[in-house]
Order: sequence, then structure tokens, then C-alpha cells
Amino acid sequence: RRPMTVPTLAEAKAAGRKLTMLTAYDAGFARTLDAAGVDLLLVGDSLGMVVQGHDSTLPVLVEDIAYHTACVAKGLERALLVADLPFQADATPERALDAATELLQAGAQMVKLEGAGPHKLEAIRFLVAREIPVSAHLGLTPQSVLRLGGYKVQGREDDASRRLREDALAVAEAGASLLVLECVPSGLARAITQASPIPTIGIGAGPDCDGQVLVLHDLLGLDSGHRRPKFVKDFLAEGGSVRGAVEAFVEAVHAGRFPDGAHSYE
Ligand code: KIV
Ligand code: NA
Repeated sequence: RRPMTVPTLAEAKAAGRKLTMLTAYDAGFARTLDAAGVDLLLVGDSLGMVVQGHDSTLPVLVEDIAYHTACVAKGLERALLVADLPFQADATPERALDAATELLQAGAQMVKLEGAGPHKLEAIRFLVAREIPVSAHLGLTPQSVLRLGGYKVQGREDDASRRLREDALAVAEAGASLLVLECVPSGLARAITQASPIPTIGIGAGPDCDGQVLVLHDLLGLDSGHRRPKFVKDFLAEGGSVRGAVEAFVEAVHAGRFPDGAHSYE
């Protein structure tokens, strides 16, 4: 079991091998996900909602992500560990560097930040120049929930679609190694994936991304207390156990069976 690294992500895209990613927040789940062959684990700021019980990701602090990153890192052998920069931790390049350094020292191998505005691209360049691998995150960016007015599909109108395609190229140009696409129509995600020099990981972005990610709690069918988005699938029902659910997700992604039309937007 060769460990996943930043270069092996690019190799997977080149080889057309689908990447699998799940969120994890503790060592016990991390060990199970890693053993089941999940390529990337994400300590997402979704922990604000699924672990801390807030109704958005905005209250999450760098120290929260660092704590869970240290927990998850203890459970890993093969998977690559990505940690989110929480709300405003990327507001300036210096803040982003301090936060990312803390997360890498807690065990993360890459940090993820949302958006492609000028200061976001600057933060990506600043981190990458300082040997910190970065994942971008475009489409529905949950840290923008106040401006967006809710969690909605992005990139449906022509100008929004064009902007998203430009942003995807801009984050790669700035040095990002990975691009999460959240809640965008399948056709747009396909076009972005074909044009993108870096692997795309979809969530609610159709079957044609280079990989797929889900929030662990959604994969296990836990009630989030929120309306369940269309792209969510409970794999525990078919998997029969936590390990089985994770294996079912990995197999379905590798086989191109997840997401299907019922779990995508057109
Ligand atoms: O925080 C998170 O879990 C995420 C994924 C949904 C990609 O950013
Ligand atoms: Na996140």
C-alpha cells in the first residue's frame, strides 16, 4: 500500500484512476477509512455543523481544525490528509501561512481554502511558494453562505458558469494541487475537469470529476438536522457496516456508479 502523496494525485488524474475522499474528524474513523482504501481524508470545517452542531461553518476556529487534524493523523497509514482553513484564516497571506503551518504541524499534508478572489489567489501563491500544498474549493463555498443566502447549486447562469471555468484555471495557475467542486451542474464540472491541469474532486458535481468526496456523516446516513441535499447517499444501507459502507463508496466511485443522475444536478 503505497502512501498517497501530492505527486500521486496528479498521477491518478493522468492515469484516469478515480480518487476517493471522505471527511474524518477522529482517529477511529480515520483508521477505518484508510484501511478501506480511501485516498484522501479531509478534516473539513463541516465539523462545525456535523460535530459541533452549528448551523454553518463560520464559527469554526483554526484550533478546532488543528485538534481534529492531530486526531485523524494518528489513524492514517496511506491516505493523504487535507485540512480546511476555516473562515477568515485565509483573509491575509500571513494569517493563512500561520494557520496552514499550524495544521501541517498537526499532521495535515495539504490545506484547502475556498474561493478564487484576488486575495484567495494571493494566499494560494503565498502558501505554495512556502512549500505548503493547497487544494482550492469552488462552486458552492459554504463560507460564503451569508452572501449566497443559503446552500444552492452554483454556476447555472451563463456568466456564473464562465466565471467558474476561469476561476478553476486561475487556482491551478496560482499553484493549487487539487480542486474541490461543490454543487455545480454535471456538464460544467465535466468541462472544468477536462480543462483543468489539476485533479478535480466533486461533491454534488456529477460523475465526471477526477474524484468524489462526501461528508462522513452523510455517507453513514446520520440526520444532520438540515435538509438533505440531493447528492447525499446513505451507503450504510447497502454496506451493512461502517467499513462496508466506506468500501461500497470506494467501489462505486471507482466503477463510475456514484454519483448517478439521481445524485447530480443538470
Ligand atoms: O468541510 C467539508 O467537509 C468540505 C467538503 C464538503 C468538501 O469542505
Ligand atoms: Na469545508
